Amino acid sequence: MQEDEHDVKLLPQYVAPIVMKEKGELGMNEWHGIKYPQKPQICQSVIKGLTCNRKFCDRMHDVDEYLKIKEAPLDIPCPFMAHYGFCDAKWNCIYKHENNEFELPDKKERPAYINNVPFKLIKDFQPTGKKHEKFDFKGKLFLAPMCTVGTMPFRRWCKDFECDVTCSEMIFARDLLNCQAPEIAKLRRHISEDKFGIQLTGNAFELKKSVEILSGLCEFEYIELNAACPQDVAVKRKCGFQIAQENKIRNSVEHMLQGALLSSASISLKTRIGDFQGDSRLQQLVSKDIPKSLNNITLHGRTAKQRYQRSADWQKLQEFQELKQENHQQLNFTANGDLFNIDTFKQFQDNGVADSFMIGRGALVKPWIFKEFKHGQELDPSSSERFEWLKNFAWYCTEYFGSDRIGNEKAREQFLENYVYLCRYVPTGLLAAKQEINQRNIAFIGRDELETLMGSQSPADWVKITEMLFGPVPEGFQYQPKHRSKGKVDNRE
Ligand SMILES: Cc1cc2nc3c(=O)[nH]c(=O)nc-3n(C[C@H](O)[C@H](O)[C@H](O)COP(=O)(O)O)c2cc1C
Ligand SMILES: [Zn+2]
Ligand SMILES: [Zn+2]
Repeated sequence: MQEDEHDVKLLPQYVAPIVMKEKGELGMNEWHGIKYPQKPQICQSVIKGLTCNRKFCDRMHDVDEYLKIKEAPLDIPCPFMAHYGFCDAKWNCIYKHENNEFELPDKKERPAYINNVPFKLIKDFQPTGKKHEKFDFKGKLFLAPMCTVGTMPFRRWCKDFECDVTCSEMIFARDLLNCQAPEIAKLRRHISEDKFGIQLTGNAFELKKSVEILSGLCEFEYIELNAACPQDVAVKRKCGFQIAQENKIRNSVEHMLQGALLSSASISLKTRIGDFQGDSRLQQLVSKDIPKSLNNITLHGRTAKQRYQRSADWQKLQEFQELKQENHQQLNFTANGDLFNIDTFKQFQDNGVADSFMIGRGALVKPWIFKEFKHGQELDPSSSERFEWLKNFAWYCTEYFGSDRIGNEKAREQFLENYVYLCRYVPTGLLAAKQEINQRNIAFIGRDELETLMGSQSPADWVKITEMLFGPVPEGFQYQPKHRSKGKVDNRE
């Protein structure tokens, strides 16, 4: 057992023996996600009762032929039937359907996604005269925008736990204007997301145009500029934090404000406290970057150089709040970085360190953190209670991706993408001292078998959990997370 000051502190009776892997075994996997041999499915046109006119459609078009080769359904009732009384996947659905029925007489309406924008409306945009109310950012708890994990199913789950405001993943304005389907899909918002932001990054011209178009076509509380992302994907395109690094925040935000002039949409800016050299940007922000009519600034309390190393600097965030109060009284300030410990949060809140707060990885590990922060009380849910919550998340993934084999596996993959974070939750009752977001996990033996399983750091166990929620994996199924896991548990009983 090697334990050090950066480790989660467990009560001794819950500590599990662990063997750390050798250095060479750590790092990134060559590929990540899931793989499995694809089986034939019925063509979507046939399911809708239409004739398929795709020239090279590789799906089956004869229902009887398909049913001859179709695998036996799972022994799990179709969740779409249970929720809505109908199932759009019909013959492709891998779940159990009583009497092969796909529609009940008392079926319910399934609420449509908001911002389901046809690409043609973007391509041939005509101003609509749509107006937006100014959004009041003050006092709200935000779920941070997070690409690949902050997708609609997860955001919807956070709404169950009283999160106030959700936000889209970062969207490249250029790709949006070029009508690329994956970027347009990021605009979609679930009806439970009652306060919603859309995050963009790009050059000033693209940003202005995108704000005009989105203001005319979409429902949102605000549009946000991402001048925070320090990753190559953004920086190489002169997007994300590179906008700050090149001192282009002012120009970018002003262009967005111009784009929002007719619709009066609220505009927000998300950036970091310091640059790629590690130097503070606070003075530059208050004296140059922020135009008068900007509605909100969200600061991640780290420099671009720092990425996620060391802790977020809340002293600096406090300093910004003071500078802001002198120079930009109307502006709302949202502080972000490492929020996880309820006592620290209370202290920041009581001291007025910021007007509102944003939680990222803390919510990924413990989505009920919003409930805790709002009611000022830490929860210690039992494993069965947490499993009921997981069932909801699994259903949100399934509803998003569908109940055919392809949809089911995409749902499982999304769930696993999030489970990499969820498995890091250590139940409150097992702790000797409060868990911090940047601490290293050490293996624990839970108060029951399910608690131990849910806290496992082993990808094989995560897959086992998905099998309890999405049914067994298909033959030939493989899964690898992005990062190799750090430890394996020995002698587990
Ligand atoms: C997986 C992941 C994806 C992220 N994607 C985005 C993004 O698309 N846009 C953005 O502004 N920040 C993104 N971030 C940064 C978070 O919004 C947040 O600023 C950061 O994680 C610090 O907050 P935390 O310490 O509470 O996690 C991402 C962070 C993570 C962990
Ligand atoms: Zn077809
Ligand atoms: Zn079904």
